[in-house]
Amino acid sequence: MTSTNDIRRSFLDFFAKADHAVVPSAPLVPYNDPTLMFVNAGMVPFKNAFTGLEIPPAPRATSSQKCVRAGGKHNDLDNVGYTARHHTFFEMLGNFSFGDYFKEQAIESAWTLLTREWGLDPARLTATVYHTDDEAFDLWRKISGLPEERIIRIATNDNFWSMGDTGPCGPCSEIFYDHGDHIPGGPPGSPDEDGDRFVEIWNLVFMQFEQQADGTRLDLPKPSIDTGMGIERIAAVMQGVHDNYDTDTFKALIAASEQLTGVAAEGDNTASHRVIADHLRSTSFLMADGVLPSNEGRGYVLRRIMRRAMRHAHLLGASEPLMHRLVPSLVSEMGQAYPELDRGQALIEEVLEREETQFRKTLEKGLKLLDEATGDMAEGGELDGETAFKLYDTYGFPYDLTEDALRARGIGVDREGFDAAMERQKAAARAAWKGSGEAASDEVWFDIADREGATEFTGYTSTDGEGVVVALISDGSEVSEAGEGSEVLILTNQTPFYGESGGQEGDTGRIWTPDGLEIDVSDTSTPLGRLHVHHSKVVSGSIKVGDTVHLTVDNARRDKVRANHSATHLVHAALRNQLGGHVTQKGSLVAEDRLRFDFSHPKGLTDEDIAAIEAEVNAEIRANEPVSTRLMSPDDAVEAGALALFGEKYGDEVRVLSMGRKGGEGRNYSVELCGGTHVKATGDIGLFRIVSESAVSSGVRRIEALTGEAAREWLVDREEALKSAASAIRATPEEVPARITALLEERKRLEKELAEAKKALALGGGNAGSGASASAEEDIGGVKFSGQVIEGLNPKELRPLLDEAKHRLGSGIATIIAVNDGKASIAAAVTDDLTDRFSAVDLVRAGVEALGGKGGGGRPDMAQGGGPDGSKAEDAIAAVKAVLAG
Ligand code: ALA
Repeated sequence: MTSTNDIRRSFLDFFAKADHAVVPSAPLVPYNDPTLMFVNAGMVPFKNAFTGLEIPPAPRATSSQKCVRAGGKHNDLDNVGYTARHHTFFEMLGNFSFGDYFKEQAIESAWTLLTREWGLDPARLTATVYHTDDEAFDLWRKISGLPEERIIRIATNDNFWSMGDTGPCGPCSEIFYDHGDHIPGGPPGSPDEDGDRFVEIWNLVFMQFEQQADGTRLDLPKPSIDTGMGIERIAAVMQGVHDNYDTDTFKALIAASEQLTGVAAEGDNTASHRVIADHLRSTSFLMADGVLPSNEGRGYVLRRIMRRAMRHAHLLGASEPLMHRLVPSLVSEMGQAYPELDRGQALIEEVLEREETQFRKTLEKGLKLLDEATGDMAEGGELDGETAFKLYDTYGFPYDLTEDALRARGIGVDREGFDAAMERQKAAARAAWKGSGEAASDEVWFDIADREGATEFTGYTSTDGEGVVVALISDGSEVSEAGEGSEVLILTNQTPFYGESGGQEGDTGRIWTPDGLEIDVSDTSTPLGRLHVHHSKVVSGSIKVGDTVHLTVDNARRDKVRANHSATHLVHAALRNQLGGHVTQKGSLVAEDRLRFDFSHPKGLTDEDIAAIEAEVNAEIRANEPVSTRLMSPDDAVEAGALALFGEKYGDEVRVLSMGRKGGEGRNYSVELCGGTHVKATGDIGLFRIVSESAVSSGVRRIEALTGEAAREWLVDREEALKSAASAIRATPEEVPARITALLEERKRLEKELAEAKKALALGGGNAGSGASASAEEDIGGVKFSGQVIEGLNPKELRPLLDEAKHRLGSGIATIIAVNDGKASIAAAVTDDLTDRFSAVDLVRAGVEALGGKGGGGRPDMAQGGGPDGSKAEDAIAAVKAVLAG
C-alpha cells in the first residue's frame, strides 16, 4: 500500500526533479491576505507572486500546503463526519509556474505522474475543460489520448477557478477518477454528477487574470499555473478505498480513538469517530501555527471545532478528556512531514486538555437543557432561538454544536431567533455601559463593535501584517474616506498594533500600501477593551473603508517596550523576594524609554535593598531563560501561582506569563497574568537599572527603572560625570571618594581657621583685608564705642565676639554687623555700668532701621536684630553712633 506520507514525498520528488523548488507549507493563518480566515488552497501563499506584487520563490515551485476550511466563505464544518470527503483540515499538493510553463506542460506533468509514475489506470480517468478552452481540449487529446467523450467541456464556474471576489483566476481543467459502477453517480456535467462515483482528484488552473473588486479582470503579467490535489482523495484512490476516512492516516487516528473510548467505529458511532479524527487534525494544526482558543475571530473558530469534537467524545461515552490523548497518534502520523506539530505537541495537548476539562463542566447541563427543550419534538421540529442562545451564552455551546447535536434527529434550530437573542444581549450591555457614566464618545465605538466584532490582535507573534479597513473616525463620527493631511482614527479587522492597556503604552508605526498610501500611527488605544484603534495622520494618498492595507509596527520601539514590560515582571518578583509578600502592584507604566512600578510597602528602600533587587533581576536576565505564555482559566492561573491583581476583572481566559529560572517547586521565578507583549527570552532585556525610588502616597512606593540600551546610556552618563569630577580634582575615578572626603575635611578645617581669623580681626588684632572693616575705638561723648562690619561672619559668632569686646573695653558700647548673602545681622552690647544710660535694644533698633528692617530685641546689655540690606551696614553703624551722640 502506498501510504499518505509516501504519496506526499513522491509528489514533491516528482516536481523537484522537474526543477520545481520544494516550498514548505505556509502557516494556516495567511500572512498576505487579511480577508481570509485560514489558508484554504495551495496557491494562497503565492497569491502575490502570481499578480507580480512579490517576487516568486523560484520560476517553478511545488508544495504540500496545509488548508483549513471552517469559518469564512469555505466552511465544511457542518458536513464533516457525515460524508466521505469533507474535512475541516486537508493537505493540498500542488505545482506552480510563475510565468514559466503553461497549459501544455501542466497537463503533460499531471498525466505522467498519475499514469506512469503512480500507475493509475487511464481508463478510470476523465478530464474536464472550460467550455471555450479549445487549446486545453486539444492538449488533452494529444497528451493523454483520452477519447473525446472523456474530455468534457464544462460551461459553469466549476471550470473557472478564482480565489475569491478578487485575486488571480483563470479557466481550469479537472481530472476525475472513476471509483467504479458499484458506486452511484455520473461523470462531470451529467445530471447525476453529484454522486460519489466520479471524484475530482486534481484541479489544474491556468492562471491568466486578476479579478478586480469592480468586476473587471486584468491580465496577469504572465500566464501561470496553479494546481491542487487533495492528498486525502488521491490516497483513497491509491489505497483502493472509496472513502477518505478509510485511508491510512484516518484509520490510524480512528483506531486510536476506538482504543481510548473502547467503542468501535460502527453504525451511529462512525460519525463521532470521524468528527474526532478530523477535528483533531484541524485543531492541532491550528494551534501549531499559533492560533489559540478564544471567544473572537480565528480563536473562536478553533474553539467551535474543538467543542464539536468534545461533544462527540462525550457521545462515545468518554468519561475523561479524550482529545489530548490522541495527539501522540497524530504526531506519529504527520509529525515528520510537519515538524511544527512535533514542536507544538506539549502546548497542543495542554490546551486541548484544559479546554475539554473546562467544557465538560457545562456540557452535561447544556445537553440536559437541550433534551428538555426538544425531548418530545418529532423530526422536522425546530429548537427555539432563545434556548439555542442560552446554550451558547451559559453553557458554551457554539451555535453549530447545537445544530450538530440535533442533526441526527432531523431537528433544526431557529437561527433568526438565536441572532435576535444575541442582539438583545448586546443592547443590554450597551445600556449598562451608558448607565455607568462612561464617556458619550464611546457610543461610536459601540456601533462599530456591534457591527464588526473585536479587532483580532496578531501582534503577539508578529509586528507586521495586513488588515482590511473597517471604520474611519474623524471628529467623533464615522467617515468613508480620509485624505492627505487628515488626522483620523483607523480601525482594521486585524492588526499587529498593541493598544494601550495594562500599563503598556500603545504601539506606533505606519499604515501603508505599495501604491503610495503612507500613514503615521502615533498611538493605538483600545476603546471598550476590544477594539484596537490606530491614531493616525495621513501623510500621502487617501484611505477608504474596505481598503486592504499593510500595518507595520515600529519594531525598534516595540522591542524596548517589550524589554521594559518583562523587566516589570522580574522586578515585581524581586521586590517580593527582598521585601516580603506584602508587596503588591499598585500601578505601572511601561513606556519606550523607561518603566515605572508602584507597589505597597511602608517605608523607603535602602541602598542595600535597591542593590539586592537589581542584582536579582540582572541574574534572571543573564540566565536568559525563554519566556513562556499559556492560556488558562483565571482559577487555574492562580493555582499555578500566577500573581493576579486583586479586584481586577479577568475574562474566561487569561494569559499567564512565566519567566526566569525554575525554583524549588518547579515554578518559574515570575508567574503573572498579563496581556502585554514580552521578550522571547529574559536575556533580551539586556540590563536592568533602578534610577529612582520615591513615595507616591502613604504606604505606596514608586521605582523607576531603565533597561537595555537606555540603562547602558544612563550608566555611561554617570561614568562621564564621575570622570569629569575626577579630572577636576586631579584624581582617578577610583580615588574620587577618598579625595572628596579629604577635601571636605580640609574645607572644614579651613572654615574653622577662617572663622578664627575673622574673630581675631573683630577683636582688633590680626590683619585686615578679610572682608571686615577695621574695628576702631572712638570716644563719643565720653563713652568708648567700637563698631564693626564683618562680611561672611556667622551671626552665631556675634554674641561671643561682643562679650569679648565688652571685656576689652572695660566700659563702653560695641556693635558688630555680620553681612551674609547681602543680608545683615546686627548686635549691640552695653557694659553694665552704662545700661542705665543706654539700652542695647534702642541701639540695635536704630541699626535695624538703617538696614531696611524692623524691630530687634534683647536685653539692655545685649540685643540683636537683622535687616535685608547689607549694603547699608556702614549707615547702620552711623545710626547707632547717632543714638549715642544723643
Ligand atoms: N487553486 C486550485 C484549487 O484550490 C488549484 O482547487
